[in-house]
Amino acid sequence: MKPVTILQRLATVLPLVAAYPAGQNQSEYEYIVVGSGTGGGTVAAGLARKGHSVFLIEAGADRGDTLPQMVPGLSTVASDDPEHAWSFWIRHYRNETQGRRDSKFTYRLPDGSLYYGLEPPPDAEPLGILYPRGATVGGSSQVNAQNWAKASDNDWDWVANYTSDPSWNAQAMEPYFIAVENCTYCEPGTPNHGFDGFISSNINNATYVTGRPYVVEYMSNAALEIENITIQNNEQLAELLNRDSNSPEHSYTPGIYEIITSSDERRRRSGSRNYVVDTVNAGFPLTVSTESLATRVLFNKNGGDVVAYGVEYMKGEALYAADSRYDATQSGELRTVVASKEVIVAGGVFNTPQLLKLSGVGPREELENLGIEVVVDSPAVGSYLQDHPEGIIRVNASVPFGNDPFENCTMQLNASDPCFVQWQDEGMGPYGEGAAPLHMRFRSSESENEDSDVWMWGFAGLDFRGFYPGYAHPLPAPDTISMSMLKCQTPGDEAKGTVTLRSADPRDVPEVNFDWFNGEQGRKELNAMVEGAELLNRIFDRAAEPIAPFTPVQPAEGVDLRQNLLDETFSHHAGSTCRMGPGSVQTHCVDPQLRVNGVKGLRVVDASVFPRVISSFPNLPITMMAHKAVDIISAAAGNYSRAA
Ligand SMILES: Cc1cc2nc3c(=O)[nH]c(=O)nc-3n(C[C@H](O)[C@H](O)[C@H](O)COP(=O)(O)OP(=O)(O)OC[C@H]3O[C@@H](n4cnc5c(N)ncnc54)[C@H](O)[C@@H]3O)c2cc1C
Ligand SMILES: *[C@@H]1O[C@H](CO)[C@@H](O)[C@H](O)[C@H]1NC(C)=O
Ligand SMILES: *[C@@H]1O[C@H](CO)[C@@H](O)[C@H](O)[C@H]1NC(C)=O
Ligand SMILES: *[C@@H]1O[C@H](CO)[C@@H](O)[C@H](O)[C@H]1NC(C)=O
Ligand SMILES: *[C@@H]1O[C@H](CO)[C@@H](O)[C@H](O)[C@H]1NC(C)=O
Ligand SMILES: *[C@@H]1O[C@H](CO)[C@@H](O)[C@H](O)[C@H]1NC(C)=O
Ligand SMILES: *[C@@H]1O[C@H](CO)[C@@H](O)[C@H](O)[C@H]1NC(C)=O
Ligand SMILES: *[C@@H]1O[C@H](CO)[C@@H](O)[C@H](O)[C@H]1NC(C)=O
Ligand SMILES: *[C@@H]1O[C@H](CO)[C@@H](O)[C@H](O)[C@H]1NC(C)=O
Ligand SMILES: *[C@@H]1O[C@H](CO)[C@@H](O)[C@H](O)[C@H]1NC(C)=O
Ligand SMILES: *[C@@H]1O[C@H](CO)[C@@H](O)[C@H](O)[C@H]1NC(C)=O
Repeated sequence: MKPVTILQRLATVLPLVAAYPAGQNQSEYEYIVVGSGTGGGTVAAGLARKGHSVFLIEAGADRGDTLPQMVPGLSTVASDDPEHAWSFWIRHYRNETQGRRDSKFTYRLPDGSLYYGLEPPPDAEPLGILYPRGATVGGSSQVNAQNWAKASDNDWDWVANYTSDPSWNAQAMEPYFIAVENCTYCEPGTPNHGFDGFISSNINNATYVTGRPYVVEYMSNAALEIENITIQNNEQLAELLNRDSNSPEHSYTPGIYEIITSSDERRRRSGSRNYVVDTVNAGFPLTVSTESLATRVLFNKNGGDVVAYGVEYMKGEALYAADSRYDATQSGELRTVVASKEVIVAGGVFNTPQLLKLSGVGPREELENLGIEVVVDSPAVGSYLQDHPEGIIRVNASVPFGNDPFENCTMQLNASDPCFVQWQDEGMGPYGEGAAPLHMRFRSSESENEDSDVWMWGFAGLDFRGFYPGYAHPLPAPDTISMSMLKCQTPGDEAKGTVTLRSADPRDVPEVNFDWFNGEQGRKELNAMVEGAELLNRIFDRAAEPIAPFTPVQPAEGVDLRQNLLDETFSHHAGSTCRMGPGSVQTHCVDPQLRVNGVKGLRVVDASVFPRVISSFPNLPITMMAHKAVDIISAAAGNYSRAA
């Protein structure tokens, strides 16, 4: 980028930004980051630690020291509470008839309450499928299920190939894994792991499988079906489960595993939020503005260049319509902040394209239809939305699974709650467990390489089938096994999902439509999930009395599996709405250095930039990407002159 001073930038304000009040006393920072989630929190703290002054704008509040965010076992509570998370209502299909076949499809009734199901009253207003996103310091990584999973080497090599930039290949990315991780479950010195990073990793405790004889039976049958291993005893089962699925030997190898979590040695949640807070407390030049909703990126013309120089935001609580406390009459206080170097957008897969579009960067026609002045016609912004589809299979055993580790937990979260006391005092117990205890990896015939391409995760004695109103508080289901079959290797260029503006109001939520299972790629995704369901059925068929026989719950007896997968599959790892690609042309939203194509001084650092969704759960690869972004951005820092 050509060196420009801040004064030069301010001298030539585009009509678009005429509202900018010239001469007003404004705080100024080298970098402004919008969104403090996995991507934004990591890049903001990393830049500050390199000595750069950073202003971090976060729509939510900091709730990192509340129990729903700290306790891994309470993650769903956090993800379903407006103090921590936003509720988007999305669509899976453009074919509304197909979309409404999902029993989780939700409507608002005239009295304001929510209904989900297949028989809405005629006056119900269709909302869509619930899709939670963290809205708090740390973003979705403060409400997620804490599965901490490495991408496949094949994923990074794919990104490097796709972008023609070898700095994204697996070998070049590995040091970022080492740099971000503080492995608390590894033997000291274990190769291919990090021990000084800002995110601690731990592993779920295998006793919550081995202590439950009927669950032992189920997981042993899984080991036999998937790995052809006949389990002889609990020690052998625990040994298999404790294999390190983030190691080169075991990652992407079919088998049964415990889930590795982003938890510290005392089983407290670990994530970009703590990194941000520790960075501020250590005195690095990071300023965090919470309860601040960014509404526009501000641009200047500098010669032929359009240069981002600041951000406009509204300061106030619950200003975004995805917040269930939202009150349309409140719009907070409008403020602006100026960057001498760059603006970095990291609002996540739905909000990043929304903010770019509100700022004039997006498809021309869509912006013009809403009266938004076009800064750059960039058709990739808000396109190529894709996700891991997760098909659900549920069965009921003939008897309860028993020995439920939660049986004595009162959920009072005080001294009367033995599980809380165990977590608080000893850093263990059921509340310290993240994600799901039943975890299997499987390679379908649709895998495009040697990797397992389906992750199965689930529960014995708990009913889980995706997101719907009240999902965080399911009814007791002691006989039920719920399994999610997550298909990796998403469609890339062929994805048809979109995030489009409903209005030019920054408090409004965009329309999100995944439009999934299209064409050849969609057929492969469905086929892989069908094979996953067939595998699960073989495992169920091996069960002996008294847990056998299993009764199908989803799909119910007589219901077509493939149609049921079309109807009920959910997802929660969305990406690619500001995808990275080779060169700097608008067919891609950002270039391989994460610079928004067509403008200067603007980058994106969140799940939006991956040209396809990485094959693992996304939190770790986004963290690695953002840590790399610190190096990219900091290396370019000398190319800007500081403001006077
Ligand atoms: C319930 C749930 C469970 C999950 N489980 C796992 C798991 O086990 N493992 C895993 O790896 N991944 C999991 N994920 C996914 C993972 O957490 C996300 O993919 C990842 O955190 C996304 O990172 P991001 O940086 O793209 O965005 P986010 O972390 O979502 O951050 C975006 C931030 O930007 C803020 N923001 C948005 N717009 C604005 C604006 N206009 N102004 C100011 N601030 C704004 C938001 O408030 C938010 O804090 C889960 C997600 C959810 C919701
Ligand atoms: C700008 O505002 C800051 C903080 O409010 C104040 O300390 C400073 O003196 C002001 N500068 C000018 C030139 O008014
Ligand atoms: C829409 O979906 C329904 C239900 O799956 C299906 O019967 C119908 O053929 C679809 N319509 C189109 C135009 O594809
Ligand atoms: C690399 O990308 C090119 C062009 O997109 C593609 O033809 C080729 O198959 C890719 N190679 C690998 C190994 O992915
Ligand atoms: C890493 O975790 C250990 C505990 O296993 C802790 O003592 C140490 O302080 C952590 N390191 C960092 C850099 O946070
Ligand atoms: C696992 O939990 C058991 C109790 O069920 C406990 O005795 C053991 O110490 C725990 N192991 C770890 C590594 O936390
Ligand atoms: C499974 O293991 C058994 C015993 O170890 C062996 O005889 C058999 O060939 C294996 N089957 C497959 C398909 O690998
Ligand atoms: C629950 O408490 C009972 C009675 O103290 C005890 O026998 C049982 O083992 C406990 N269950 C668990 C999972 O800790
Ligand atoms: C724990 O909370 C419950 C209900 O919220 C209350 O009845 C109980 O007295 C509390 N126990 C302690 C030790 O505070
Ligand atoms: C499965 O178990 C749940 C909870 O115990 C129950 O509500 C449901 O009716 C059962 N379904 C079938 C098909 O047995
Ligand atoms: C700095 O600018 C020069 C000249 O435009 C360019 O060649 C170089 O790649 C830039 N450096 C970085 C790290 O962006």
